[in-house]
Amino acid sequence: MSDGQVTSQTLLESLMKEERRFAPPAEFRANAWVNDATPYEEAARDFESFWASHAENELHWFKPWDTVLDASNPPFFKWFSGGETNICYNCVDRHTQSWRRTKAAIVWEGEPGDSVTLTYQDLHREVQKFANVLKGLGVKKGDRVSIYMGMVPELPIAMLACARIGAPHSIVFGGFSADSLRDRINDAQAKVLITQDAAWRRGKPGPLKPIADQAVSQTPSIEKVVVLRRAGDAFPVEMTPQRDYWWHELMATADRDCPCEHLDAEHPLYILYTSGTTGKPKGILHTTAGYNLGTHMTTKWVFDLKEDDYYWCTADIGWVTGHSYIVYGPLSNGATTVMYEGTPDYPDKDRFWAIIEKYRINVCYTSPTAIRTFMKWGTEYPARRDLSSLRLLGTVGEPINPEAWMWYHENIGHEKCPIVDTWWQTETGMILITPLPGYVTTKPGTATIPFPGVVADIIDENGEPVAANTGGYLILRKPWPAMLRTFWGDDQRYVATYWSRFPGVYFTGDGARRDEDGYYWVTGRVDDVVNVSGHRLSNIEIESTLVAHPAVAEAATIGRNDAIKGQAISAFVVLKAGNAPTEALKKDLRDWVAQKISPIARPDDIYFSADLPKTRSAKIMRRLLRDIAEGRILGDTTTLTDPGVVQEIKQRYITEGREEG
Ligand code: PRX
Repeated sequence: MSDGQVTSQTLLESLMKEERRFAPPAEFRANAWVNDATPYEEAARDFESFWASHAENELHWFKPWDTVLDASNPPFFKWFSGGETNICYNCVDRHTQSWRRTKAAIVWEGEPGDSVTLTYQDLHREVQKFANVLKGLGVKKGDRVSIYMGMVPELPIAMLACARIGAPHSIVFGGFSADSLRDRINDAQAKVLITQDAAWRRGKPGPLKPIADQAVSQTPSIEKVVVLRRAGDAFPVEMTPQRDYWWHELMATADRDCPCEHLDAEHPLYILYTSGTTGKPKGILHTTAGYNLGTHMTTKWVFDLKEDDYYWCTADIGWVTGHSYIVYGPLSNGATTVMYEGTPDYPDKDRFWAIIEKYRINVCYTSPTAIRTFMKWGTEYPARRDLSSLRLLGTVGEPINPEAWMWYHENIGHEKCPIVDTWWQTETGMILITPLPGYVTTKPGTATIPFPGVVADIIDENGEPVAANTGGYLILRKPWPAMLRTFWGDDQRYVATYWSRFPGVYFTGDGARRDEDGYYWVTGRVDDVVNVSGHRLSNIEIESTLVAHPAVAEAATIGRNDAIKGQAISAFVVLKAGNAPTEALKKDLRDWVAQKISPIARPDDIYFSADLPKTRSAKIMRRLLRDIAEGRILGDTTTLTDPGVVQEIKQRYITEGREEG
């Protein structure tokens, strides 16, 4: 087992002792979309027919497909080859042809307390108009459009408009730096950038346009920039003539009609960058039909969506969770999806619960980090609000500790709402391991079993399946419709990253065990990826950023356990001669990383060291650094070039203590 598994070991041991069981409540079960083993059995009997029957019944097609799964050139799988569809048609147009025309599609709550409701008819109109705006700016089918926005209703409008005309979007989370935005735009070679003046954050406008300007000064492919006015007078911005256009001005004259392109099932839908084990973020490519089907079916069954539900996923659309479970999955189902612009503690720490009370939310999907933060704030905040409308709760992004699961169950679900702990990745596009809440009995801390039609397994170093309750690598044995198709512009790296370590299967990068009931306990990454508050970061990217600082000679980072964030980042830094190891420099280095990558990558603690522990092949021994950061006894150091280094680091680390982030 590789390095990263070590941290998980103690967590696992405590998790696996979990004996509490929560069967679906009888009434919930009686009304659920899935309340028996039928879909699991159907999928097990004939996996392709299973997906095909739902593709036929649940989605609209301009032209039927010829082949359900084309596996002739693995791992470049194709789903529904020969078919033609458009995810925008499935998410918008078809719902305007029934009574749903006047149903709320998007209910948006602004941080300052303003709100907007867009019916399916409104959404249809706005999306068509914005699709015409894009065409007017020269965007053609296949051209990439980068989006750098906050959580505003215009964001899903922009996404759907791109999908409508077949222009893949590439959303960059609004918390990313100018350098990160620049690199992502350049990798995608985007033609147009959509941004906004500023986004509301804890009562203040957080700049977006000025950061976009910095990025765009180094992105030759960008021809036009569309700017949404959100903060208005509170945040005046400069507009570059012939390049920058106001959203509202373009929309004022845009034509109302823009038919959906008939797109090939495998037409690229979007690129979303995520951190991997190297410094360079990878552009995960998702395509049209399979992604549409995967997100549609999982939204319907995992969240057991009912026609009159108010469904709220608290994620940011800058991450995959927002793409799949705020926008595409819910809208394809004709649901009402709620979006919130701001933070959970503004104006007070009960904001989430106030939103649930205000809109009578029925289904709420959030992250373990958010739940642990709410636990820290105390039960008085949820207790202030009426949460009786809730009937189902979900979590995603990181392992949930049973304590947080129970807190969620008791204080938010009032012991009546099933909890779906959903395991998936940017790459998988859709939820893959999850309870179906009307059928699967849950246990706190496990994402339970694979979704029907998903074939997972846990294997050892040699690719052999492991026995029950034995740790191993989580893999997927069969393709699934919403899987990534490649890295944008880098097929070779796609094969090397996921399909080479264990030939013929997809390697997730996660470690897991299966218990005697066949439930999967996913414990975290076994590679150089860190998961801080559910955000994926690469050690190597942070290390190279630190090394780019003029004072730094060498750096190593690790994710150490953290009670709230899941993992926190500890950085071990060797300074260049002539630089003093001061507190001021520590702060400077932390700010440097925040500014170069994003505040989410800011190291929690910095430790100055004379050297780093390395193996004889010059590989940094992160395991040892993690032992130190988590205060454990040192592991085996015999492969170190200079075992004294570790002792020295440990000594100083303990004496100096940690800084709080
Ligand atoms: O390690 C797993 C963890 O998050 C990783 C995927 O991160 P990202 O691509 O950013 O997507 C996050 C949202 C889908 C996984 O490899 N992870 C995600 N969900 C869970 C989880 N770990 C344990 N339990 C989960 N439910």
